[in-house]
Amino acid sequence: MKSFYITTAIDYVNGSPHLGHAYEKVLVDVIARFRRLMGDKVFFLTGTDEHGQKVQMSARKRGIPAQQFVDATAAEFRALYDRLHVSYDDFIRTTEERHQRVVREILQRLFDKGEIYRAEYRGFYSTRQEQFLLEKDRLPDGSWPEIFGEVTEIIEPNYFFKLRSYQDWLVGHLKAHEDFIFPRFRQKQVLEFLKEPLNDLCISRPRERLEWGIPLPFDEAFVTYVWFDALVNYVSGVWGDGGPRAELWPADFHVIGKDILVPPHAVYWPIMLHAAGYEPPQALLVHGWWLLKSGQKMSKSTGEVVNPLDLIERFGTDAFRYFLVREMNVGQDSEFSLELFLSRYNSDLANDLGNLVNRTLNMSARYAGGVVPAAGTVGDPERELQALWERTRDEAIRLCEGFQFHSALERAFVFIKAINAYIEKRAPWKLAKSADPADQALLQTSLATMAEALRLGVTLLAPVTPATTEKVYAALGHQSAPQWQDELRWGERLTGARLQPGLVLFPRPEPAT
Ligand code: MSP
Repeated sequence: MKSFYITTAIDYVNGSPHLGHAYEKVLVDVIARFRRLMGDKVFFLTGTDEHGQKVQMSARKRGIPAQQFVDATAAEFRALYDRLHVSYDDFIRTTEERHQRVVREILQRLFDKGEIYRAEYRGFYSTRQEQFLLEKDRLPDGSWPEIFGEVTEIIEPNYFFKLRSYQDWLVGHLKAHEDFIFPRFRQKQVLEFLKEPLNDLCISRPRERLEWGIPLPFDEAFVTYVWFDALVNYVSGVWGDGGPRAELWPADFHVIGKDILVPPHAVYWPIMLHAAGYEPPQALLVHGWWLLKSGQKMSKSTGEVVNPLDLIERFGTDAFRYFLVREMNVGQDSEFSLELFLSRYNSDLANDLGNLVNRTLNMSARYAGGVVPAAGTVGDPERELQALWERTRDEAIRLCEGFQFHSALERAFVFIKAINAYIEKRAPWKLAKSADPADQALLQTSLATMAEALRLGVTLLAPVTPATTEKVYAALGHQSAPQWQDELRWGERLTGARLQPGLVLFPRPEPAT
């Protein structure tokens, strides 16, 4: 049976991870967890992109061997993802032998098929961007924009991949697969880009200039250059016998940021695969960028880095994950601000959810000896809450299937707020004071209803805040199930469960020092 195979971009390890890197891995983790809960077999690959000029330069600056440098930075990325509870199945590093072997195998295959040729390359080269520039990149006064750093003219032999001869094939493929890129407007951008003739792709650098790369199997005086190395991780991470494993390939989704769609993922990668005789991926999911308040991109080179670790340490992994997923409409950009983070933390997590958990646990302890009673006769408030649950669940699933996680979370919190409103309406503290048997029955019903509704609410949050869901389950005496199946059905499965009081979720933060 084919598994649902999903990947992230592999991060450059020439600096430390930042919010943008963290967001993408959390996003893919939410998708992977959602699919697993929906019953799919999932394979989730992430990793690090470790070759290239910048890494070579960073290592030299520190006076250490490149391998030692990437070992340290890659470990930093991986530690962050572990801390963020990113449930990857494998972590690929492009310096691993298993990756280098596949890159060489694919290069040799393309070379043998006549898809790669040697020619002289002449051009203006930006070391900072690790790319040759085009005439159209120049400013009107003939100089180069600052983002390119120092630009030098270089003439050297290199190897080229026959990209141009596959242009018509790619256009046909995109037209035949309208859902290849999500969101759809990006597919139109790619087709627009393909109206201009493609240049063949220069895929090598002379080793004397760039040591830190994978040598070409047919000419060891050269190493592969950026994309021919990095993109191949998606297959080298799942390599079987002479190709990517059939139960995984083609990948269901490569999830990437908007900056690396055109041309690498939308043009080079499908063509590389097709030319080598492999199927292209099923789809690309393209997310937007986190922007700083000023509207500037966060980037390592300008030194404007928001360190995600700070928020994780202060507020916990789930609060951080919740914020990222709640605030970003997948595909669009989003502005990052600490105020927004605090307001989400306080109003949604501490107030709405945290209070609900406290009330449910405390009232059951006070009025029912800490054991969830059986629900008796139900009235309109119970029926309304249950009807809202059913709508919430169906909508949230539909929204998650369409990657609209921010809206799914919004719906989930409408439901959580409704449970709090339900408690206000039933006022169990008043019912408890009444000697009327009907009120006592209603008290039992209200305690059972709030516990069941809370269980369902946190079940829906599981892909985004998995540790919180587990904690609330444990407090409710509920065993988690690996799949949702009937976990999302309103029932009476908590009847008789013994609650564990004292759970503190999302405490008020200490003032920042
Ligand atoms: N190494 C390449 C990708 C190779 S994939 C075969 C690369 N690395 S990166 O470290 O620069 O970026 C990794 C991912 O993080 C990319 O998908 C990129 O779009 C994403 N982000 C980097 N900064 C970002 C934000 N500020 N916001 C959201 N995501 C951004 O590109």
